[in-house]
Amino acid sequence: MAAEAAKLTARGVKVFSFSVGEPDFPTPAHVIEAANQALAAGATRYTAVTGTPELKAAIIEATKRDRGYETTADRITVSCGAKHALFNLAAALYDPGDEVIIPAPYWVSYPEQVRMMGAVPIIAETTAAGGFRLTPEALAAAVTPRTKALILCTPSNPTGAAYDEASLRALLELAAQGSYYVIVDEIYADLVYGGFKHASAGRLGASLGDRLIIVDGVSKTYAMTGWRIGWSISGPKVAKALAVIQGQSTTNPAAVSQAAARAALLGPRESVESMRVAFERRRDRMVGGLNALGLPCRTPEGAFYAFAEVSSLLGAKVTSAGAETTLATDDDIAMWLLSEAHVATVAGTPFGAPGFLRLSYATSDADIEAGLASMARAISTATR
Ligand SMILES: Cc1ncc(COP(=O)(O)O)c(C=O)c1O
Repeated sequence: MAAEAAKLTARGVKVFSFSVGEPDFPTPAHVIEAANQALAAGATRYTAVTGTPELKAAIIEATKRDRGYETTADRITVSCGAKHALFNLAAALYDPGDEVIIPAPYWVSYPEQVRMMGAVPIIAETTAAGGFRLTPEALAAAVTPRTKALILCTPSNPTGAAYDEASLRALLELAAQGSYYVIVDEIYADLVYGGFKHASAGRLGASLGDRLIIVDGVSKTYAMTGWRIGWSISGPKVAKALAVIQGQSTTNPAAVSQAAARAALLGPRESVESMRVAFERRRDRMVGGLNALGLPCRTPEGAFYAFAEVSSLLGAKVTSAGAETTLATDDDIAMWLLSEAHVATVAGTPFGAPGFLRLSYATSDADIEAGLASMARAISTATR
């Protein structure tokens, strides 16, 4: 998909990119300034493996301010992005044959990291009608004596769906009765819309004790994907294991990036809010447009993805790249939309959701309008 989109772009075709997984905004200027100052002051060497004391202090402060609970430095492991934090957790926790429960639709890295450790992803289905939220019943049905962990993502990539306080509390209370870890990925927690309040697992899940692990980072909230700073907040024993794994692999995340992350967490918040407001406006545009096209799409509470059901297009006859063809899968639909509408999307199947497409609205308002109009033209040519 990316290769085809790049080919079109190289031919001078304007591609509407609804496939991106990062904010289209720049890192705030004050963060870049802080990084420059840190470099000049010598942030060019190794640091403590699991993060500088200064960054950990900033994480503690921001966690209290933004997530509503207290934590301590011995629980924090700063890694090279939230993905790295999740990978280290997988290496620390999962043994061959362990089962890890993952609600579908899921971010693609969760099951892959589980498999890389020889463990087994157990996929628990959710529905659009149920807000793509795992129910306590579905969780109870997925738990076995081999369950090592449950991975939740709120707000979610790819659906943008988020747990409200009651639904998250119900899951955490059920999990507290078990003996498995609960890993909650809150990387999109600051990007929530329409007055939705992020339900923080760290605040609600005290009954899990050290079996609760939070993953967070600066990539999305502060438009800092390239700086590679994320972290986990776990029990001290797990944190010690993570320090061993990280100490024998990457060592510390880049010193300058840690200084930048500290500046982001403690600095002015206007840029975070203006980005959030822009995403909220674009969400409404994207979701409204998709529903108007006859592609049902629930209004997501957060992140920057719309997750549209495209099964009505399955079986349609279309012209794609000059040839008559029938759209048999969501991947066919995504490739057809790219070649005929010049809109890049991501098919649902890799997220465990056949018949859906993920459309990112981390792109300009103008491109959202024009891309949707281009999709409408392509869809009007599809026949049965
Ligand atoms: C759900 C989710 N978790 C974690 C990450 C990783 O973020 P980072 O850039 O901090 O590695 C992403 C990035 O796309 C994501 O979508």
